[in-house]
Amino acid sequence: MKKTVCFDDVLLVPQFSAIESRSEIDISSVLRPDTLTLGVPIISSPMDTVTEQHMARAMEDIGGLGVIHRYNSAEQQVMIVKKARDIGTVHVAAAIGVGSAHLERAAALYDVGVRILCVDIAHGHHILMKKMLYDLREIFRDAVHIMAGNVATLTAFNDLADWGADSIRVGIGGGSICSTRTQTGHGMPTLESIISCASSDRNAKLIADGGLRTSGDIVKALAAGADFVMLGSMLAGHAETPGDAIFINGQKRKVYRGMASKDAQIEWRGRTSSVEGVSSTVSYRGGVAEKLHEIKTGIRSGLSYTGARNLCEFRSKALFIEQSSSGATEGLTHINL
Ligand code: IMP
Repeated sequence: MKKTVCFDDVLLVPQFSAIESRSEIDISSVLRPDTLTLGVPIISSPMDTVTEQHMARAMEDIGGLGVIHRYNSAEQQVMIVKKARDIGTVHVAAAIGVGSAHLERAAALYDVGVRILCVDIAHGHHILMKKMLYDLREIFRDAVHIMAGNVATLTAFNDLADWGADSIRVGIGGGSICSTRTQTGHGMPTLESIISCASSDRNAKLIADGGLRTSGDIVKALAAGADFVMLGSMLAGHAETPGDAIFINGQKRKVYRGMASKDAQIEWRGRTSSVEGVSSTVSYRGGVAEKLHEIKTGIRSGLSYTGARNLCEFRSKALFIEQSSSGATEGLTHINL
């Protein structure tokens, strides 16, 4: 049986650096050649407690990208996209599912200016994904960037690329609100999936998705070959996420939930099928700009420890080592307060 690695099993080895200031480090990443380069390789997750118009705008402000979730009617989603463009967001990405109703949704989204569509299903290495990607390519040709996922293996990554995906979300079962592995016994550590998919010879961009908890995890994902990271829990609870803050025992909180959780499924489709996520609340964290800035600084600092000036150089220079569980414990702040 193959041995696999998780984020906490590895560290990056610090290397000589000739970079005098972190401001010399470029962490931009190309999403659409000639059309869209993100200044920061961060994409917000298409979840109904993460991305609507305000998060999309905040992501663009920092140089990232927001993907508007699809857990509503096509009309409601189109309205959210319009609002995002009102408040001045230039690049709005939007998620769709698979099947003919979602082709119509895609057309409606295209009509309001969406040029990045994200085919968002739990198990992306699937015949319905293949049909959807073929249909989307036939209808839109190269007028849209197609993001698709999620997948966990190199075979799946290559198949989605061959079926027409321009960028692929990699990670199954690792999300903070995910219970796929417990419910179905399937999944793969996200870092292992990234390492494996990064060896692809296809041109599709790799988006690491699920289980990124810190800027350290993001740095490891980028070193392992991710072009972008997609974040849910790291953005949850901020003012720009959809939904009102609530008070629990006098504490201000916001809901963060898996899209396959019982609560979410009942709300968006009136019934549950396989429950593979949980619903939770997290502390209210105020505006997201400070958090995004902190993440951005963490990524730059990460590149500086390897002595890399950009993400491409970083991927080729980065040196991983495996660490023991006591190494992982030692690496956590451990002062006795
Ligand atoms: P996080 O950043 O660790 O919170 O993970 C967010 C990611 O979890 C999303 O981008 C999705 O890929 C995935 N996800 C969202 N909802 C669910 C769910 O209900 N079950 C399993 N995975 C989910």
